[in-house]
Amino acid sequence: MNILIIGSGGREHTIAWKISQSAQLDALFIVPGNAGTEEFGENVDLKTTDFEGIANLVLENNITMVIVGPEDPLVAGISDYFSSNKLLQHVALIGPSKTAAQLEGSKDFSKAFMGRHNIPTAAYKSFTKNELPQSFEFLQTLKAPYVIKASGLAAGKGVIIENEIDKAKSAIEEMFSGKFGNAGETVVIEEFLDGIECSVFALCDGKNFLLLPEAKDYKRIGENDSGLNTGGMGAVSPVPFFDDLLKQKVIDRIVTPTLSGLNQEGIPYVGFLFIGLMIVNQEPYVIEYNCRLGDPETEVVLPRIKNDLIELFKHVASGTLESQQIEIDHQTALTVMCVSGGYPEHFEKNKKIEGLELLKNELVFHAGTKTTNDSVLTCGGRVLAFTSLGDSIEACRTNSYKSISKICYDGIYFRKDIGQDLLSFEIKN
Ligand code: AMP
Ligand code: GLY
Repeated sequence: MNILIIGSGGREHTIAWKISQSAQLDALFIVPGNAGTEEFGENVDLKTTDFEGIANLVLENNITMVIVGPEDPLVAGISDYFSSNKLLQHVALIGPSKTAAQLEGSKDFSKAFMGRHNIPTAAYKSFTKNELPQSFEFLQTLKAPYVIKASGLAAGKGVIIENEIDKAKSAIEEMFSGKFGNAGETVVIEEFLDGIECSVFALCDGKNFLLLPEAKDYKRIGENDSGLNTGGMGAVSPVPFFDDLLKQKVIDRIVTPTLSGLNQEGIPYVGFLFIGLMIVNQEPYVIEYNCRLGDPETEVVLPRIKNDLIELFKHVASGTLESQQIEIDHQTALTVMCVSGGYPEHFEKNKKIEGLELLKNELVFHAGTKTTNDSVLTCGGRVLAFTSLGDSIEACRTNSYKSISKICYDGIYFRKDIGQDLLSFEIKN
């Protein structure tokens, strides 16, 4: 089978690594890919939203499966583009339709959807630009901290949490005046949930789903969850406090009603559904939906899945996922992300990465990297994810940090506390 992966991050390198283990793969293409994906296939320099260019690539290379990594092409409607074009209808595209991707593309849509289907989430109201006074009135009915969200896609930066009401009001005003572009035309204000976060992932075929291993990511740039939000600085799977009882609550109250609610509304969901959860006193609430796998969560979730991923994707495309079972490796997986100095604010690129040749059996997934004249250079905020599999979080921590010590580039930064907060839960279990 000839397969195309769309995207260029650690998530897409991990997908490439995983499907390369399948005997069903003949040729792999990645749009646009990075220095890591080159090991498994051909990188093609196209934009992830250049649907026409992607369609030509698919037809010229007899590609019959397309796996979409990031949200932008999904929210822009790549699935609808393929299903409405006769020449592309035979291609198995792994990713939801434009309407289904609204679960991530519009927080206003997803909150209203959860309301209609009684899915537990923080109480909220949404407001448009001409409703500034009403938004302030609603804010006054809430207690601090105040949670203000731009409804549209804002690259993970559109959520502001403020302790002071005046700052919360300014945040709303800034969103309405275009700080996040169109994403802030509608603003969601919601109740603050005080709990522990983790994420679950479901692979869906429109009717059935398989629950994948859960993961916890580390969103803040600084140790002990301090500083600015990032795309994710590390991740751990399994999550030691995510026990069978909690898992069953998540399936019964969240995953099943989400998929049946979508079906009732005529929006069958095909692809990965990522549900960000807040666990408050052992009760799960949805913080957000994403229409894709997480990054760096993928770097710990896929190494724990034993199935042939291509086989699972074939069942996704044919709507026969009920015949499949997920086989999970019970080891712990942990990943630490190395980023460019200055990230998530302004950072420098094109720094030479030294020492990659010393990493042989280690799992290193590339994110913002590129190859030039046989050197590998940094070209993004997040650069390399170092994943380890082992019997405990501590063993994985030791190995991931040992791998990191073999490489260097100018300005390298990583958090040294990935997984540390989970050690006490692990001992209790
Ligand atoms: P989101 O982009 O919606 O996932 O929000 C980004 C981050 O903001 C989440 O990962 C949480 O840490 C935090 N957050 C979002 N909504 C809430 C809420 N209602 N209560 C507490 N924290 C929240
Ligand atoms: N790591 C969070 C995300 O992928 O959205």
